[in-house]
Amino acid sequence: MKPYSPDEFSYILYDEKTIQQKVRQLGAQISADYRKMNERGQDTIVAVGLMRGALPFMADLGRAMDLSMTYELLWLSSYGSSDRPGQIELVQDLRTSIKDCHVLLLEDIIDTGHTLKFALDLFKKRQPASIRTCCLLDKLPRREVEVPVEYVGFVMEKDEFVVGYGLDYAGRYRNLPYIAALHPRMYKK
Ligand code: IMP
Ligand code: MG
Repeated sequence: MKPYSPDEFSYILYDEKTIQQKVRQLGAQISADYRKMNERGQDTIVAVGLMRGALPFMADLGRAMDLSMTYELLWLSSYGSSDRPGQIELVQDLRTSIKDCHVLLLEDIIDTGHTLKFALDLFKKRQPASIRTCCLLDKLPRREVEVPVEYVGFVMEKDEFVVGYGLDYAGRYRNLPYIAALHPRMYKK
């Protein structure tokens, strides 16, 4: 139950203010786009957060969107190894149907792209009115599969392991209000 210590991190990539500004920008842009797409305002928008990393992002982004919408959660887990990368397990599915809904898939970070691809393939079979993806971070140098991403918060040029604002290492750091590069000594033995 000890507090986090600054020497667990190499440096802070995005501080709380920078993240909140970006989330507000994304919220305004996405709201405007969805309003255009649905001028009569009768369609249902479902924000689907990928557990567990998208939770803080989902909470803040939803409050930055001036639109009626519902929340759903999808829980995926990757169990890939070096000889079989990108194996994704469905831990918990949505509780409601997305048929005829506009799905806004929310992800904390896109790394290889396998998790997002799994979610998109799963949802496409369910006849939604549309699917768009929004991720806070895009770790481009590590992409292994092509996935469409309509809204991106920050593009990471460097391949480094980051934590905070939903992102974890061994379950910790998700509750940090900022995003930091984890110091290699924390995971290299
Ligand atoms: P992908 O399937 O390789 O795109 O992996 C996406 C998932 O890997 C994310 O939802 C995160 O849970 C995890 N992940 C990838 N990179 C990082 C990181 O730098 N920090 C924390 N989690 C990460
Ligand atoms: Mg995740």
